[in-house]
Amino acid sequence: MDHFSYKNGEMHAEDVPLSQIAREVGTPVYVYSTATLQRHFRVFSGAFEGLDALVCFAVKANSNQAVLSTLAREGAGADVVSVGELERALRAGIPAERIVFSGVGKKPSEMRRALEAGIKQFNVESEPELEALNHVAGEMGVVAPVSLRVNPDVDAKTHHKIATGKSENKFGIAWAKAPAVYSQIKALGNVSAVGVDVHIGSQLTDLAPFKLAFEKVVSMVADLRAAGHDIRHIDLGGGLGIPYDPDEETPPSPVAYGDMIKSVLGDLPCSIILEPGRLIAGNAGILLSELLYVKHGEDRLFYIVDAAMNDLLRPAMYDAFHNILPVAEPGDNARNAVVEADFVGPVCETGDTFAKARKTVLMNPGDLVAFKSAGAYGAVMASTYNSRELIPEVLVNGGSYAVVRARPSLDDLIGLDTVPDWLKD
Ligand code: LLP
Repeated sequence: MDHFSYKNGEMHAEDVPLSQIAREVGTPVYVYSTATLQRHFRVFSGAFEGLDALVCFAVKANSNQAVLSTLAREGAGADVVSVGELERALRAGIPAERIVFSGVGKKPSEMRRALEAGIKQFNVESEPELEALNHVAGEMGVVAPVSLRVNPDVDAKTHHKIATGKSENKFGIAWAKAPAVYSQIKALGNVSAVGVDVHIGSQLTDLAPFKLAFEKVVSMVADLRAAGHDIRHIDLGGGLGIPYDPDEETPPSPVAYGDMIKSVLGDLPCSIILEPGRLIAGNAGILLSELLYVKHGEDRLFYIVDAAMNDLLRPAMYDAFHNILPVAEPGDNARNAVVEADFVGPVCETGDTFAKARKTVLMNPGDLVAFKSAGAYGAVMASTYNSRELIPEVLVNGGSYAVVRARPSLDDLIGLDTVPDWLKD
């Protein structure tokens, strides 16, 4: 459930009309809803009641400081994958002891900063990374808490670019090797094994692959504990899908996901960590855009909008579906006037297509459209391709809103470059 709905004939974010934001901030613009972020976080956390569970928001999904601060106040931890995300989480008020550090390519400088901050754990993905971490921790005279991310070789049944749990993927330590690497941890002086970590992919709409992977991990944890390793946490990663297309996808509810986890864990004496990203932020945001031109092609209708692939990359990168709704609620006449249109942006690539032959209503230049489910992997994946400035972000809270990232000026954008002296006159 989200808080973007039609009221008095137009779509609102909570109690703020989207047309007001378009008028006052300009388009394209990302709009996030506080109430939706809170609701998703509470529903998700609530699904683990009775367990010792830490919900670490995957910062990569949406790293805006205002979004992170909203979640920090809900008690969220953070799953970070770079020193940049670590600083963002800390500055948003997420305590270091609620932060886990994932990713296959952590640099020694990033490890150092995370050790200084005192994070909860490093999710280590290879033996060379383990050795590097041991070295850095040794130089600092500390012991780094480690969970090995194991690769369970399970097919997540999601888009191939966001599946991570098969043996051919770059992620995690090969299943068969993992026990030996835990023994290696014991032999090294400045790392200590506190947990096991797994993450098999993103936008999963079926519980079965999760269950398969989690059962494997639980049996590995039991074996490791029996072998004398003091494993206290299991990090189950993120990945629970959301309904992008309400007519097509019915992902399992957080409660069903939580119940499955409870039954798989049984009475294993371990706390759990969860790393949801999309589930918290995805449907808490929209991309608001204006229709620039209606172009009648040879045999197609093009709706050319002012947002482009550089603002929302998911359709170009994963052929992802985003529901695109007119901000003005279609009246009865308009609802009957259904057309098929290609929604495209201004970038000079055919891939700059948000939707092909999408059933929609007749619209006119100047009309506003909302790309739903854009709160996760939207703004964070934006670029300035075609020298388009990064677009602003707005956070709504009830009847008010704040610009939480301003639109940069062209001077800001061009000023990032420097022209060497020899080209100056
Ligand atoms: N934990 C780890 C280690 C991850 O790699 C990810 C996502 C998450 C948690 C959060 O997954 P979520 O709950 O959001 O599914 N850009 C792609 C998604 C990439 C996901 C990468 N890892 C997209 O737009 O669909």
